[in-house]
Amino acid sequence: MAIEYLRLSLTDRCNLNCLYCTPQEKASFLKHEDLLRHEELARAAAAFARCGVKKIRLTGGEPLLRKNITGLVKMLKAVPGLKELAMTTNGVLLAPLAAELRAAGLDRVNVSLNSLNPAAYKRITGSDSLEAAWDGLMAALKAGFSEVKLNMVVMKGINDAEVPEFARLSMDFPVSVRFIEFFQTSARTAQLRDAYLSSAETRKRVEAAYGLLLQVPPGSTDGPAHVYQRRGAKGRLGFISGRSDYFCGACNRVRMDCTGRVYPCLFSPATHTLKDLLRAGTPEEALDDHIKKIFLVKSEYKRNSPTAGHIEMSDLGG
Ligand code: GTP
Ligand code: 5AD
Repeated sequence: MAIEYLRLSLTDRCNLNCLYCTPQEKASFLKHEDLLRHEELARAAAAFARCGVKKIRLTGGEPLLRKNITGLVKMLKAVPGLKELAMTTNGVLLAPLAAELRAAGLDRVNVSLNSLNPAAYKRITGSDSLEAAWDGLMAALKAGFSEVKLNMVVMKGINDAEVPEFARLSMDFPVSVRFIEFFQTSARTAQLRDAYLSSAETRKRVEAAYGLLLQVPPGSTDGPAHVYQRRGAKGRLGFISGRSDYFCGACNRVRMDCTGRVYPCLFSPATHTLKDLLRAGTPEEALDDHIKKIFLVKSEYKRNSPTAGHIEMSDLGG
């Protein structure tokens, strides 16, 4: 599988503290000087693009916490060969930024929103920012992105009762609502061991509420989601089944964290780092050779392989 998709984490910080993502006690955050600077990120992005990457998704932590994010989006958008620049955000800081991010060249936004109920939102995120996140989603829909997706990690006993309400959003808004199977990551998420609900069960619940869904043929921006639609709906419904039906065979992505460490797989250790090369002013060709080596080891790592290790979603952005 050609590697065409880079997930680029811009910061390890987040303004939420989600049950399913962040470790309870985050011991410390990285120091400013440990983070790659905008110019270094842009050089790395250009090198990945020369090696075949066509899509970059900005993640975090929370990517909108990164200083002058609009300036960074402009720099990344100018990288030759990139076809798409996207972002995954919790939406809390998005409302005042959506239009300028769009104007700076951001093509698509995915908003992580796991409850529409203030008490459940607070339980999941530790924060009262539901209204801000909702405003962020609405602002994204208005800003003219080519597509807006909403990610809901379905957790039994926590937000699964809201599945029909989330599905309903795809009737009223041109948004792709994606139901994501929860998977365990840090020690804290072990508390949610019994919260897993399969995509098949989630889909049953949607169909019990609204009738049979129509399957949409796979599209180029669907990623690992299986996509459906309700008759007459403005938006779509996607199911991401990282646990019941994982998709290593079709994986076309690598990840880089905000310090330049590169992970060939969500479940692999960081096998390489670009920071030293970037800081040493390494010529383009040598940078590209290094990236090609990373691409070569990717096939050694799979979700259930012996090399699979501990992952911390909050540092790597999913
Ligand atoms: P699109 O570009 O819109 O397809 O986005 P995306 O699905 O690639 O990115 P997003 O940040 O919205 O991620 C949504 C969810 O997909 C994440 O919560 C993960 O649970 C899941 N996901 C993304 N990449 C992987 C992966 O490589 N392996 C597994 N198991 N799950 C993944
Ligand atoms: N299980 C499933 N999805 C997760 N995400 C973060 N942690 C988990 C987990 N433990 C998702 C978020 C976000 C995406 C980047 O990763 O919902 O939308």
